[in-house]
Amino acid sequence: MRAYIEDLKKHVGSEVEIRGWIYNRRVKGKIAFVLVRDGSGVVQCVGVRGEIGDERFAICDKAPQESSVVVSGVVRADERSPGGVELGIRDIRVLAEAAPNYPIQIQDVVPEVGFLMQNRHLWLRSRKQAALLRIRAEVIRGIQEFFDSRGFMRVDSPIITPAACEGTTNLFEINYFDEKAYLTQSGQLYAEAAAMALGRVYCFGPTFRAEKSKTRKHLTEFWMVEPEVAFLELDGLMELAEQFVSHLVQRCLERRKEELKVLERDTTKLEKVAPPFHRMHYNDAVEKIRKEGLEFPWGEDLGAPHEEAVTKGFDKPVMVHRYPAAVKAFYMQPDPQDAKHALCVDVLAPEGYGEIIGGSQRIHDFALLERRIEEHKLPRSAFEWYLDLRKYGAVPHSGFGLGVERTVAWIAGTEHIRECIPFPRMLYKIYP
Ligand code: 4AD
Ligand code: MG
Repeated sequence: MRAYIEDLKKHVGSEVEIRGWIYNRRVKGKIAFVLVRDGSGVVQCVGVRGEIGDERFAICDKAPQESSVVVSGVVRADERSPGGVELGIRDIRVLAEAAPNYPIQIQDVVPEVGFLMQNRHLWLRSRKQAALLRIRAEVIRGIQEFFDSRGFMRVDSPIITPAACEGTTNLFEINYFDEKAYLTQSGQLYAEAAAMALGRVYCFGPTFRAEKSKTRKHLTEFWMVEPEVAFLELDGLMELAEQFVSHLVQRCLERRKEELKVLERDTTKLEKVAPPFHRMHYNDAVEKIRKEGLEFPWGEDLGAPHEEAVTKGFDKPVMVHRYPAAVKAFYMQPDPQDAKHALCVDVLAPEGYGEIIGGSQRIHDFALLERRIEEHKLPRSAFEWYLDLRKYGAVPHSGFGLGVERTVAWIAGTEHIRECIPFPRMLYKIYP
């Protein structure tokens, strides 16, 4: 019977056939221990020379790493093995022998990350990288499940756009039939239109920023999910954000235990992630940053070290709200208490991961939005449709964007987000 490695626990005592690739091996006298991976997991297959014969034993002993194989054998419970089972080999066949020079040989010295990145197409086969991709897929399923089960409609926003959403400094420009166009930085503006049509919506797709800086938190192409809700104000938005983030974390804890173990993630910290998250006014965040010994002038946006200072001492994400309007996007509703501040929120993940969500209440007043578009020197003509939303039945509304890769990096405990997307795009990096 054909089986996937992740299901072998259900087949203890039976003979099964698995299909995969040789991951590693060890031979001790007349016994060979061959690690086979099939994408769903890794299992140790044990071959005894006297039982399987010389020809099969030679495969176990000599087939190069990454040769594709079909193995059949009996599943045995084994507490010490990963997955709790091993396979007693009865037959092993090579489908395609790998060239002997596989660049990412399993060895004690871990190759440097530049080399691994250059071989990203092969690096994906490594255990930790595969675990990261599985956690990413789980986060994406969690995103869809969360919104779909709460009455949100998924509405896809365009990738080719005529105007900026998040400032003009990091736009990727393209030539669109002799007109200037840009790769989208965010689907938000379109999600706002959709929210006025459908009430509660979310868009989800790739977004682009020509980030000129090399940091562990920036990609030039990343995936963002953006809910947008009519009649929702900042307080409700923060509640939605804390429920959403907690849902994603708890889902991974439930369904991706094995992967988190492979990644050696300390999950005790993640277990504490549940509503309510701590809410902190920007002014109090400034105070905390200074108390932690950093110099920080009032009025600036938070950089990575500042975010780390803000979250210090908290197990759960911290929601910093009401940043100065001057450092945030043109569309944010001013705080009625003090118009210097915007009704916005950033969700900062603990353990040094920092911002995973940025969101706000949106300006719904026509005249104010018109003024902001002018102040930000945005081309009015590209925003006529967006202004229309304030002409015909404007209502308070709010939304946020969550970056998938930053969220995966935090949940998986990975230092750099380049490992949290299959093929990362970064400054000067577009291969493979
Ligand atoms: O804070 P940002 O720029 O917000 C927006 O784009 C809003 N229009 C979203 C909305 O309200 N609908 O980006 C949102 C999130 C960030 O918190 C971060 O997680 C992620 O997107 N992000 C990036 N992730 C990887 N690389 C980059 N260069 C990123 N820029 C933003
Ligand atoms: Mg932001």
